[in-house]
Amino acid sequence: MAVDLLLGLQWGDEGKGKIVDVLTKNYDIIARFQGGPNAGHTLEFDGIKHVLHTIPSGIFHDNAINLVGNGVVIDPVIFQKELDNLSKFNLDLQNKLFISRKAHLILPTHRLLDAASEAAKGKAKIGSTLKGIGPTYMDKTGRNGIRVGDLEMSDWQEKYRTLANKHEAMINFYNVDIQYNLAELETEFFQAVERLKSLPFIDSEAYLHEAQQQGKTILAEGAQGSLLDIDFGTYPFVTSSNTTAAGACTGLGVAPGKIKEVYGIFKAYTTRVGSGPFPTELFDEYGETMGRVGNEFGATTGRPRRCGWLDLVALKYAVQVNGVTQLMMMKGDVLSGFDTLKVCTAYHYMGEKIEHLPYNIEAENVTPIYTELDGWKEDLTKMNDASQFPKGLNDYITFLEEALEVPIKIVSVGPDRNQTIHR
Ligand code: GDP
Ligand code: IMO
Ligand code: MG
Repeated sequence: MAVDLLLGLQWGDEGKGKIVDVLTKNYDIIARFQGGPNAGHTLEFDGIKHVLHTIPSGIFHDNAINLVGNGVVIDPVIFQKELDNLSKFNLDLQNKLFISRKAHLILPTHRLLDAASEAAKGKAKIGSTLKGIGPTYMDKTGRNGIRVGDLEMSDWQEKYRTLANKHEAMINFYNVDIQYNLAELETEFFQAVERLKSLPFIDSEAYLHEAQQQGKTILAEGAQGSLLDIDFGTYPFVTSSNTTAAGACTGLGVAPGKIKEVYGIFKAYTTRVGSGPFPTELFDEYGETMGRVGNEFGATTGRPRRCGWLDLVALKYAVQVNGVTQLMMMKGDVLSGFDTLKVCTAYHYMGEKIEHLPYNIEAENVTPIYTELDGWKEDLTKMNDASQFPKGLNDYITFLEEALEVPIKIVSVGPDRNQTIHR
């Protein structure tokens, strides 16, 4: 049985959590494949809003097992808070939330190192969520990390101490003013580790292999977005994992040939949180309106998201890198009321017009070239069928489908689970 894959095509926060929740009824297993608590995935239903960071977004459905895959990095402290937030829903977590033994742990000192590294960078900072993501993946690839499976071994605390001591020396090396009380952080950490240990740890690649042989349906859930990918994103202003389709193979142990549908999610405009280039960013009332109407604040850090027009050059690049087979357009409702909409279809780059994403998209190198389309005035949020869509929205969708050569199968018209229109 094939594995389907869902990922973000922009700089994150496209609405992945909402759509995974909507699609979970069709799957037996929802498996997160990369990232960590830098992610904030929002789900809304029955008038309640939930934000998940590490736990997959299928958790509220009875039919699916939720798996935190080997490619994910877990902070036990944040994980415990997520579990606490779920406790009122009486979910049978013991039987539906599994953790890969090969997932790496975020230690308190990883978080401190993240803060020290960012402080040392000054103005050039990445704008990290300060969750310790970069330092944890560095220890993973540097072959120093501590994995979930280590928690089942008797010597893991010695490994921990050796690594934490090294981290303390590294924090001092940065020579920046970071205040912390490691003893307190460690007490909290060790308590949270015990809570994590109450959940089933599994050899998740073998589990997924067997599930496929039994004909179970699997949806791989991505975090962040393609333009934050460590290889293909706007480096160095990226996260430290492969957010693109290939990341699902390494982050779950699923063979490339087993992947069937690749659902690519994008907002009808563009947002970015943190530093880094953003060619179509708006500093005018249009950008302000997108941010206000779209409630564009980071689900993890609460920072305001930078807003701008849809960038088709960047979106096309993401569609190609991921091999997207179906598109899902989110937050179309936020654009209601604009007289005209602009879509970036090419860049002026070093005196030339180009239609691909160049190596360097800093503002001094790239000026967007826009195509203008008529907007629409109608409120989309109460619509429940594509036949109700205004002409402006249909024209916008058709324009994007023709440019991207991939069908838009879902149009989301509000944050709620029910505000989801299939085409
Ligand atoms: P994720 O990280 O990709 O899961 O996305 P986030 O949860 O960080 O950000 C998406 C935000 O947009 C959340 O606040 C969602 O509730 C909200 N959202 C999702 N889809 C829609 C939509 O179609 N319209 C509106 N207005 N909000 C939406
Ligand atoms: P979801 O899954 C949006 C951004 C940070 C920063 C850069 C590096 O909710 O879409 P990191 O903490 O990974 O070292 O930060 O990446 N970033 C995100 N932006 N959504 C996310 O996740 C993000 N995760 C990280 O703002 O610019
Ligand atoms: Mg988010």
